[in-house]
Amino acid sequence: MSHPGDDRARLGLRESATFDRQTIAAIHRAAETGIYDIRGWGAKRALPHFDDLLFLGASMSRYPLEGYRERCDTDVVLGDRHAKHPLHLDIPVTIAGMSFGALSGPAKEALGRGASEVGTSTTTGDGGMTTEERGQSKYLVYQYLPSRYGMNPDDLRKADAIEVVLGQGAKPGGGGMLLGQKISPRVASMRTLPEGIDQRSACRHPDWTGPDDLTIKINELREITDWEKPIYVKVGATRTYYDVKLAVHAGADVVVVDGMQGGTAATQEVFIEHVGIPTLAAVPEAVQALQELDVHRTGVQLVVSGGIRTGADVAKALALGADAVAIGTAALIALGDNHPRFESEYAKLGSAAGFFDDFQDGTDPAGISTQDPELAARFDPVEGGRRLANYLRVLTMEAQTIARACGKSHVLHLEPEDLVAVTIEAAAMARVPLAGTNWIPGT
Ligand SMILES: Cc1cc2nc3c(=O)[nH]c(=O)nc-3n(C[C@H](O)[C@H](O)[C@H](O)COP(=O)(O)O)c2cc1C
Repeated sequence: MSHPGDDRARLGLRESATFDRQTIAAIHRAAETGIYDIRGWGAKRALPHFDDLLFLGASMSRYPLEGYRERCDTDVVLGDRHAKHPLHLDIPVTIAGMSFGALSGPAKEALGRGASEVGTSTTTGDGGMTTEERGQSKYLVYQYLPSRYGMNPDDLRKADAIEVVLGQGAKPGGGGMLLGQKISPRVASMRTLPEGIDQRSACRHPDWTGPDDLTIKINELREITDWEKPIYVKVGATRTYYDVKLAVHAGADVVVVDGMQGGTAATQEVFIEHVGIPTLAAVPEAVQALQELDVHRTGVQLVVSGGIRTGADVAKALALGADAVAIGTAALIALGDNHPRFESEYAKLGSAAGFFDDFQDGTDPAGISTQDPELAARFDPVEGGRRLANYLRVLTMEAQTIARACGKSHVLHLEPEDLVAVTIEAAAMARVPLAGTNWIPGT
């Protein structure tokens, strides 16, 4: 069987590495439309990531734990620095904030069902709290965003924790975006926006100009909620060391660091691929900041997100010093997003299962990232919740498997000493030795 590529090689055609076919298509698209590309998902370029790290399982100098007889716990407490009611989660994997508007009501319900079944939290998002998600989520983190869309003091009190969002890994320095086709009557009324008109929300909080104002805001939020709820601060990974220090000084109980692989519902492609630093590079910076303030693992918890897919990713993030991780894209995939059973419908949209990133369009055949009532009705929140719970269980069991192999009786006992890197870049970013050496570049 011959492939088109064979012919090209035979003819001696050579593709430019600089102007490859995707680049050429992007230039044509820009030339034809005069508008920049907007899409969902996170950075698609290859970046140093958790795959570039490996665990040193126990053998002689350490001894492993027996999977069938010896415990390896997975619970984590988030927000015990100031809050009267910290969150006690059964697993260190949480569901990241994804807005109602980006996602359908049934999808939010499914996230709540899946997370609650395994004892972890979900997070609201831009645009407010839905009855679907509050109804199903045992632990619900309420996002307080620059846009203030859907912000309601009563909902603050209904939440189990509050997350002040300063940025997202997919677009640090940028605001939210929800295109008109997804601004349904319900979304519009929750956000007090006109129906059907593109929405671009603020990139910074309207009532503050710097970290001192964050201190005031956190105190205000504590007063409104009677010092009961943990206050998280979420930043997109850029100058992570300084941002984490400032967030802790401002009074955060939990700091959420979202790396550049982090998903989004909609933003400019140029933003997704060119702003921010990889998750792997951000974690050690955040941990260093917390350690220098003497609050690492003893007062302020670190939640890491951006490209978490497997139990190995979870274990590696914890080993580098995170207390928990958050997942967005992987949770949507677990619900059924990008499933091959929708292949023919993805094809009609000019996409394919495994490539569908048009969360901004509202045309999602899986009924997850849409506000179209007919598409949303295709999605079964009970089945979706079951799939998500299964996936979360697998992540947890995989992380436990690795922790036991490293001789740890709690997944949070994993440490950088359990890791090596297979590339010099990953070794330098993660601050662990290159495999087979004692060399940590840069130290
Ligand atoms: C569909 C979708 C909607 C999102 N909406 C929000 C949001 O409203 N607020 C926010 O802080 N982050 C939002 N995010 C980002 C996630 O909270 C999280 O930072 C990111 O998805 C983590 O990376 P991952 O997708 O690789 O797991 C959204 C992400 C997705 C995929």
